[in-house]
Amino acid sequence: MKSLAPGSFNLIVADPPYNLNKDFGPWKETERKAEWRDWTRAWLEEAKHLLSDEGNIFVYGIHHHICWVQCMMLEMGLIYRRQIIWHYENGFAGYGKRSLNATYEPLLWFSKTDRYIYTPIREPYKSQERLKHKIIKNGKVWEPNPEGRMAGDIWSFPTLAGRRFRDEKVKHPTQKPLSISRRIVKHFSNPGDTVLVPFTGSGSECVAAVMEGRTYLGFELNSDYIDMARERIIDALDSNSSEQADLASTLPV
Ligand SMILES: C[S@@+](CC[C@H](N)C(=O)[O-])C[C@H]1O[C@@H](n2cnc3c(N)ncnc32)[C@H](O)[C@@H]1O
Repeated sequence: MKSLAPGSFNLIVADPPYNLNKDFGPWKETERKAEWRDWTRAWLEEAKHLLSDEGNIFVYGIHHHICWVQCMMLEMGLIYRRQIIWHYENGFAGYGKRSLNATYEPLLWFSKTDRYIYTPIREPYKSQERLKHKIIKNGKVWEPNPEGRMAGDIWSFPTLAGRRFRDEKVKHPTQKPLSISRRIVKHFSNPGDTVLVPFTGSGSECVAAVMEGRTYLGFELNSDYIDMARERIIDALDSNSSEQADLASTLPV
C-alpha cells in the first residue's frame, strides 16, 4: 500500500482480522495479539494517506475491540460519520449461558472531509398500511417517497450461515455477504471508481465492486484465498458481460 499514490481512492473497505482467534493461515490471530493494536494503527495510517478528499473508509470490527479502532481513527483526524450496526438473526455467536449472544457486528464509517460521496439509501416503509391513508405532518399533506424511507444506521443483512446461502458461501472463515458489500460500494463511491480492499479474503468487496460497475485493488496474504477471490471475481465479470450481451441483443441494429 505504501507504493500507491496519495489520495487516489474514493472508497476503502477494510475487513481486517478482528483480534479474536481465527486462523487465516499466514496470519494466525492467536499469535498476533501483542502487535494487533500497533499493526492496526500502521495500516490505518496508510489507508488515510490513500483516501481522496471525497473519500469514505469503512472498517469492520468486533464489539470487544472496535473501540480501539474508532479512537485511532479519531486521533488521526479522520471524520467520524457513524458506527453502523450490522444486525443479523442467523448465524449469531453464542457466548454461553452466563452471557449474551452476539447478534451484530459494528462497522465504522469515516470520511476524509465533509465533502464525502454519498448516494442516499432508501428502504421500504415499515408500514405499507399507514401509507394508504392521507398523512398530515406540520399541517401539510406528507407524500411518501416512492423509493421508500431513508435508511438508518442499523443494517439488517443475514450472514451466510445455512443452506439458504450455499451458492454464495465459499471456504473462507469470515466471508462477508455480497448484500452488505454491495450497499457500501453502491452508495459510498462513484461508478467507475477503484475500491481499495486491504484485506481481500474470499473477495466479497472486490466482487461487489465488479457487480456495481467499479474496479478494485485488493491485498491478501493467503494464496488459497487469492485463488478463491479470483474465481469469484471471474464469475462476476462473466455474468456482467453476459448481461451486457443480453442488453446488446435487445438494442436496435
Ligand atoms: C476478515 S478476513 C476478510 C474477509 C473478506 N471480507 C471476505 O468477505 O472474504 C481478513 C483477511 O485479511 C487477511 N490478512 C491478514 N493480514 C493481512 C495483511 N497484512 N495483508 C493482507 N491481508 C491480510 C487474512 O488472510 C484474511 O483473509
